[in-house]
Amino acid sequence: MPIFDNHGRPIEYVRLAVTDRCNLRCFYCMPAEGITYVARQSLLSYEEMERLLKIMASMGIRKVRITGGEPFVRRDLVPFLYRIHAIEGIEQVNLTTNGVLTGKYIPDLVQMGLHSVNLSCDTLNRERFFKITRRDELPKVRACLDQLLESGIKTKINAVVMAGKNTEDLLDLVEYTRHHPVTVRFIEEMPFNGTGDHYAKLEWNHKKILSHIREHHPRIMALPFENGATAINYQIPGFKGKVGIIAAFTRTFCGSCNRIRMTATGTLKTCLYDDGVLDLRTLLRDGSDDTAIELALKRAFGSRAKDGYEAEKARKSKGKVSESMSTIGG
Ligand code: GTP
Ligand code: 5AD
Ligand code: SF4
Repeated sequence: MPIFDNHGRPIEYVRLAVTDRCNLRCFYCMPAEGITYVARQSLLSYEEMERLLKIMASMGIRKVRITGGEPFVRRDLVPFLYRIHAIEGIEQVNLTTNGVLTGKYIPDLVQMGLHSVNLSCDTLNRERFFKITRRDELPKVRACLDQLLESGIKTKINAVVMAGKNTEDLLDLVEYTRHHPVTVRFIEEMPFNGTGDHYAKLEWNHKKILSHIREHHPRIMALPFENGATAINYQIPGFKGKVGIIAAFTRTFCGSCNRIRMTATGTLKTCLYDDGVLDLRTLLRDGSDDTAIELALKRAFGSRAKDGYEAEKARKSKGKVSESMSTIGG
């Protein structure tokens, strides 16, 4: 039985950031000089994360997504992934990665039965990739994508849509789904870029993204929305893959939100837009037993904001949202 929050939504999905470090410098995520990374001892250890996941699994959480920063920047990730596959109650483990270091681990990912990989890739054009991520790593990301497709692991591409940066790439990315069985998901840009700056009004919102695609693919059809999902998915008749649109800034999907997140330093967020509702690292380190941790989690699940707007309003740190997505975990 899942546990329900104060708005009647089941909590079934945890996103776990294993590091705040990253080997790219995507401008929508952090400034060129990077962010101040936390000290190693401030990160949860793999043992602490495993203990937490066991407690959450006993409370009904079924789905785990490993995020970062870039998960593969943290040493010894693969043995940890194997261990969380063995936790009773966890039905699927997924990974969000930028693909730069991922390729050589794919045989392991297949062997452990990883459910899916979401690969962040905002353009298939090498120059624009460099401009966006400030690193010339597209060839490695493309090689990773090819390997993922060959391996049979379910793969989605995440592309953040940015005015003046990659809107000319949208149709290329859509075209990629003609012959490849992947879902390319276009994401509204959010203000989590480590600077606090954001558009006064988001021009490339989900509606504009869809109408732009529809102009070129008038037969595109919406597929039924799945509760708990972020994306509305679409099918273009005859295409092998799918296209998805994630209204991450407009926040249209909060009504069925089934997810919580753990930052790399052990802060629980019950919404992407809150600024942390529970310090689990302290509880993990002060001798609290599993029952006490479970109780604290239940209390947090029982007082979730109803949507991302309410969570944003209730932030303790007032003013503009200025964290980097790399410290939040996406
Ligand atoms: P699936 O499990 O494949 O559905 O993936 P996901 O969409 O949950 O995760 P992913 O890490 O691929 O995130 C895709 C985009 O959705 C990223 O830009 C995330 O920041 C954004 N996103 C994920 N969860 C939330 C959320 O709860 N609220 C908002 N507003 N955006 C989210
Ligand atoms: N807005 C929207 N999506 C973002 N991501 C990172 N920063 C942002 C942002 N500011 C995406 C990454 C990754 C996912 C976890 O979050 O591209 O695919
Ligand atoms: Fe790294 Fe992902 Fe942030 Fe880009 S979006 S800098 S790949 S954590």
